[in-house]
Amino acid sequence: MKVRAAVLEEFGAPLAVQELDLAEPAPGEVLVRLEATGVCHTDTYTASGADPSGYAPTVLGHEGAGVVERVGEGVRSLAVGDHVVTLFSPQCRECIHCMSPRTNLCLAIRAEQNRGHLPDGTTRLSRDGEPVRHFMGCSAFAEYTVMPEIALAKVSPEAPLDRACIFACGLSTGLGAAMYTANVEPGSTCVVFGAGLVGLGAVAGCRVQGAERIVCVDLSEDRLELARGQGATEVMVGGPDTVERILEMTDGFGADFTFEATGLVAVMRQAVEAARMGWGLCTVAGVAGQGETLDIVPRLLITGWRVCGSSFGGVKGRDQVPKLVERYMAGDIDVDPLISHHLSLDDVNHGFELLEAQDGIRSILHPTG
Ligand code: CU
Ligand code: ZN
Repeated sequence: MKVRAAVLEEFGAPLAVQELDLAEPAPGEVLVRLEATGVCHTDTYTASGADPSGYAPTVLGHEGAGVVERVGEGVRSLAVGDHVVTLFSPQCRECIHCMSPRTNLCLAIRAEQNRGHLPDGTTRLSRDGEPVRHFMGCSAFAEYTVMPEIALAKVSPEAPLDRACIFACGLSTGLGAAMYTANVEPGSTCVVFGAGLVGLGAVAGCRVQGAERIVCVDLSEDRLELARGQGATEVMVGGPDTVERILEMTDGFGADFTFEATGLVAVMRQAVEAARMGWGLCTVAGVAGQGETLDIVPRLLITGWRVCGSSFGGVKGRDQVPKLVERYMAGDIDVDPLISHHLSLDDVNHGFELLEAQDGIRSILHPTG
């Protein structure tokens, strides 16, 4: 079939919206009609050419939500008409990682996905017979996409898809960092560095877990206001003295749990040092640039500081994204303030501009109108 899609032709150039060919789903695959896709930093990072593992031509977009149109042979867990959220982090439920409660990093299709292929090593997207690669296994800046069954989370049909889509990446990453990776304890003191979608999700996750104090640090007063809306009890404009100020606020000890959601290694270091002696846990959710390193004073580790990382919030996508969406539907997570602009597929480059300008938290594309 013919589909309209936003293609990254060349790094550093605007995306080109055009018609492509999309083949039928192979065994184990699903055809999805995309109704909403969030514009995320990873899309712009790849489009800029800064990501050394990036490739082109490819259809970007990985924060999608839509409706199942057709299923390939052998697909059992999804049926036509189901509402789904795309998962760049799949869950096969069979590999050694999926079988372990300790990680969400499914091993099933990693190598092919990293190359922009579907699990059988080919693409369903093409143009004049030449393959076009699938970005992060999703390619959600398109009217339709074909994805593996194991990379789709079936969510409540009641959930508006233009809200559900942000559970595909940023929001679940933040929520999960607090709820699953760190498993924040009730009554604890938490500090969240960064108030983009991931940081705001972490603030909400700390609140849902019953944290008593949630301090959010960012450079933008507007974003700090949004953090208050998600449950931050205190907010702070960040600077070189952020750690000292947090120690002052916590009787000199620091926080039980800290979260880093900026991707800046200098901020990561502050997040480590703002955690407390004995048991403080710093969870790094931001993605640093290739080759960058994080400085930690080893003495901190000896005296009980702990540091861990969190990819997609430790969320096992097919099992836990539907549950997070349920919590949104139950009123536990306030999604609306996180969504700022609604755009057509043709406006995808404007979505990138809004992201660069930090105008709002998330712009949502509506690929099928
Ligand atoms: Cu993302
Ligand atoms: Zn797996």
